[in-house]
Amino acid sequence: MILKADKPVALCSDHAGYATKQAVIAYLEQAGIAYKDFGTYSEESCDYPDFAHKCAEAVESGECYPGIGICGTGEGVCMTLNKHQGIRAGLCWKPEIAALTREHNDANVLVMPGRFISNEEALEITKTFLSTEFAGGRHQRRIDKIPLK
Ligand code: RB5
Repeated sequence: MILKADKPVALCSDHAGYATKQAVIAYLEQAGIAYKDFGTYSEESCDYPDFAHKCAEAVESGECYPGIGICGTGEGVCMTLNKHQGIRAGLCWKPEIAALTREHNDANVLVMPGRFISNEEALEITKTFLSTEFAGGRHQRRIDKIPLK
């Protein structure tokens, strides 16, 4: 488990990711995993950057770890999160990608496309992401080169 006992998971979505986020919240609650939900809080149309930036800031500052972000395709939330130098957000639509973005990229935010996966698939992806450790080694050298100087 990559979870840290003292840190909640940061969550964010827009309206298109809201239902999937609620499914993730139900899983986290039954598993006893703490979380902080940065919105949105309904299916009313909204702008994903308003919530993704807050989620990114919480992970970047160390308040939360890791993060989970969801929008319709996952693309907008992922683009927004990755504007932050301390964020490595990975867009995942199957568990194998979630495992690899943890093993190879040490992703600190999981992003999912709520309109293209079922709730069951979202939970499998989430469980895989949360339980896969970073492999280090040559991958550490590579992720060290990602941030802008
Ligand atoms: C909302 O309609 C949709 O554009 C958004 O959820 C996301 O897919 C954007 O990247």
